[in-house]
Amino acid sequence: MTQEELVEFAQQVREQAHAPYSNFKVGAALETEEGRIFTGCNVENSSYGLSMCAERVAIFKAISEGFRHFKRIAVIAETRSPVRPCGACRQVISDLFPPNADVILANLQGDLEVAKICELLPAPFDRSFF
Ligand code: THU
Repeated sequence: MTQEELVEFAQQVREQAHAPYSNFKVGAALETEEGRIFTGCNVENSSYGLSMCAERVAIFKAISEGFRHFKRIAVIAETRSPVRPCGACRQVISDLFPPNADVILANLQGDLEVAKICELLPAPFDRSFF
């Protein structure tokens, strides 16, 4: 699968976003080592802090379906430059993806950037601390 194809999955699921408070719709799509694709959109709540980001929806869907070996993830929103994952999502991606996994950043104009999760979250907290 090309990067553009993974972004296309993210773009399609973005349409499902439930974002009545921010009006900022986000879509994410991850690829597992087995080549499976899991998608997620942001889901907001009237109690704002309960809202969930698109990336974590995709990751938790995959985990709950029994997949935990992840290759890369794409995220897309309507932004001037390719959207970047929030800090909480960087931590979750960092915990579950290899350090060199690509995070594909996109926007609706077709701009695309690729960064490794270890670049987006250097020196993370991880299980080695417990
Ligand atoms: N959002 C995501 O879904 N992913 C991110 O990485 C950044 C933020 C969502 C959360 C909220 O629903 C909206 O974007 C505005 O912050």
